[in-house]
Amino acid sequence: MPETLPGEPTLRDVKMHLASPAAPVVGRVRSSERCTVGGARSKSAGFVRHIEIDVTGTPLAGSFVPGQSFGVLAEGTDAKGAPHKVRLYSLSSPTRGEDGNGNVVATTVKRTIDEHHDTGKLFLGVCSNYLCDLRPGDPVRLTGPSGKRFVLPADPSKHDYVFFATGTGIAPFRGMIFDLLDAHAASSITLVMGSPYQGDLLYHETFTDLARTHANFRYLPTLSRQPQESGEKPMYVQQRLTSQADLFRPMLASERTLIYVCGIAGMELGIFQQLARALPADVLSQYLTLEGAA
Ligand code: A2P
Repeated sequence: MPETLPGEPTLRDVKMHLASPAAPVVGRVRSSERCTVGGARSKSAGFVRHIEIDVTGTPLAGSFVPGQSFGVLAEGTDAKGAPHKVRLYSLSSPTRGEDGNGNVVATTVKRTIDEHHDTGKLFLGVCSNYLCDLRPGDPVRLTGPSGKRFVLPADPSKHDYVFFATGTGIAPFRGMIFDLLDAHAASSITLVMGSPYQGDLLYHETFTDLARTHANFRYLPTLSRQPQESGEKPMYVQQRLTSQADLFRPMLASERTLIYVCGIAGMELGIFQQLARALPADVLSQYLTLEGAA
C-alpha cells in the first residue's frame, strides 16, 4: 500500500520497476502524431507529439496507471562514449492503454530545442528528439513503471477533481480523465489547460469532444498570450480561480475535491497564491490552522 501524507486519500496500488535499464523491454512504435491544434494558428516554436508504443507480450503490458512514467533508452552514446542514460516520460494513456487492453502505451513529448550554454550553438535534446524521430514499426527500449505518488485515489468515486496543466503537463491528466470518465460518472471533473496560443493547446479536440459528451467533465482551455474565446484577457491557469470564482468556490469548499497540478516550474506557487485569494475564509482558516499545527 503506498504511503500517504496526513489528510491525503489512500492512493491506487501500482506496479513498479518490472523492466530495469539493465534489462529493458523492446516495444514498437505504433504511431507518432503532432498533438497540437497546429495549422495556421500555431505561433509558438514548440513541437509536441503523441507517441504510441506497442508493448504486447512484455512485462510492461497492462502494468501502467496514469500518473506513472516509463523510461526510454535512446540509441547511441553520449559525448564521453557512454550509452545514453534512461529518461523518464509521463504516461498519457489511460489504464486500458490506447488499444483497450493495456498493450499500447502513449506519451506526450516536446522536442527540446535550445542553445548550448557555453558555445551558443544549437542544442537538440537527445531523448526527446530520438523519440519524436521514431517512425511506426521502429523498436524502442523501455523501462518501468516508475512513480507511485501522483496517481488517482484508490477509490476515485469518493472525489471530485480539478486538474491544472500547462504544456506537456497534460500527459498524466489525459489518462486520468479517461480512467475517471470510463467508470465514475458521479465525480465532477474540471480540467484547466494552459498554453501560450490557441494553436498550442494539446489534445484540444479530444477534450472538447469529451466535454460535449460527458455532463460531469468541464474543459477550460486558458491562453496566456492571446484573448480567450470568451473575449476574456490572456491569463495563466491559476487566474481561473478568481476570474471564475463562482464556479470554483463550491469546489474549493467541498471536502470531496482533489486538486492535481502538473506543468511548468513555478506554477504551483502561482496556484497556492491564487488559492489563498479564492478560498472561502472559513476553509482558508482551516488550512492555516493545519499549517500552524504542523
Ligand atoms: P507564457 O509563456 O505566455 O508566459 P508551453 O509548455 O507550451 O510553453 O506552455 C506553458 C504555459 O505556461 C504558457 O502558456 C506559459 O505562459 C505558462 N506559464 C508560464 N509561467 C507560468 C506560471 N508561473 N504559472 C502558470 N503558467 C505559467
